[in-house]
Amino acid sequence: MLRGRRVVLGVSGGIAAYKAIEVCRRLVDAGAFVSPVLTPDSLHFVTTQTFSALASEPARTSLWDSPEPSPHTALGQRADLVVVAPATARVLAAYAMGMSDDLLVATLLATRAPVIVCPAMHTEMWEQPAVQANVALLRERGVTVVDPVAGMLAGGDVGVGRLAEPADIVAACDRVLGGGDLAGLRVLVTAGGTREPIDPVRYIGNRSSGKQGHALADEAAARGAEVTLVTSAGRPAAPGVEVVSVETAAQMEAAVAARSDDADVIVMAAAVADFRPKAVADDKLKKGDGVPEVVLEPTPDILAGLGARKRPGQTLVGFAAETSDVVANAAEKVRRKNLDLIVANDVSAPGVGFEHDTNAVVLLREDGSREDVPLADKRAVARAVLDAVLDLRSQATR
Ligand code: C5P
Repeated sequence: MLRGRRVVLGVSGGIAAYKAIEVCRRLVDAGAFVSPVLTPDSLHFVTTQTFSALASEPARTSLWDSPEPSPHTALGQRADLVVVAPATARVLAAYAMGMSDDLLVATLLATRAPVIVCPAMHTEMWEQPAVQANVALLRERGVTVVDPVAGMLAGGDVGVGRLAEPADIVAACDRVLGGGDLAGLRVLVTAGGTREPIDPVRYIGNRSSGKQGHALADEAAARGAEVTLVTSAGRPAAPGVEVVSVETAAQMEAAVAARSDDADVIVMAAAVADFRPKAVADDKLKKGDGVPEVVLEPTPDILAGLGARKRPGQTLVGFAAETSDVVANAAEKVRRKNLDLIVANDVSAPGVGFEHDTNAVVLLREDGSREDVPLADKRAVARAVLDAVLDLRSQATR
């Protein structure tokens, strides 16, 4: 969706301006016509020459140094999208207040195109109520905010405030312009292992890290889907993913039930507990009271429930974490749970499944066909799963 689109790339004066060079290059690589607008302060960190060399036209820095009589209105009117990366506290404030004090803010005020701001600053500044109020106001007005992430900041500090990754910023641009092969699809993903309480401090859990489910949600969002992620993993998700945090199988079931009717694609990557304590003690069980007898009961099978009420046009994907007879067990689950696809893995193999950054899976379809995805990082596995989903959906409409 970026191909042939006119994108104004605004760069303001923070150390993260160096990452805007990568954003510029990626936008150009995706086929966009990129017009860089650099604030005077950004020139302390990056040069006009760098952007002029990489972008589609020379970088502009001022209202007064351009051959056009009115550069801000020319840029604003021509733009299909304006993205500001990094957006400093000053630019956010000036834009929120309508104070046109440089070419970038003037362009933001002169455009009717969608706007994305990518704030980056020290944690103390980012958390300042004044900054948060400006960001909230911009959001309310329809501006897309690609939130900063946690990590190393200038001067060696660590905290929230780091500019989002260039790839995520470009994915947000693509999404705002309606791009990606999953655009228009609502995708519901579950991730993580559920925790079933025994008492207020103890629970029955499993080794799932949620990495595969989160990679699926991030990949679906990067490809333009509207994504909801129901997760127990407590991990960050890519900008644009709606995150619903849960802990138990019952909470996950309720969160999924509330959203499943609207979903075009549901991917149950979560490792849902099969059993939970029948009764949860109100107080912490005391060692002195002897060894407790924990009686278990089955949890609801969320996926089987979804399969039983699957609506036409809905694609249902399950996961099967196995330690033996991987394919046979997975094939039985596809049928029993009325799935379109199951992602099966042998979690006892090295580098595969729980906690690892990599995975190796077999994709089994309801028609019995099979595709092997060899060991790869979980984002690549997510790509293969979503490719298979798209293929299934295009077959269904043929
Ligand atoms: O039958 P099994 O638990 O191995 O099936 C795994 C698949 O079923 C996964 O997709 C998992 O998310 C889902 N599941 C579920 N509810 C349960 C147990 C598993 O939705 N209670």
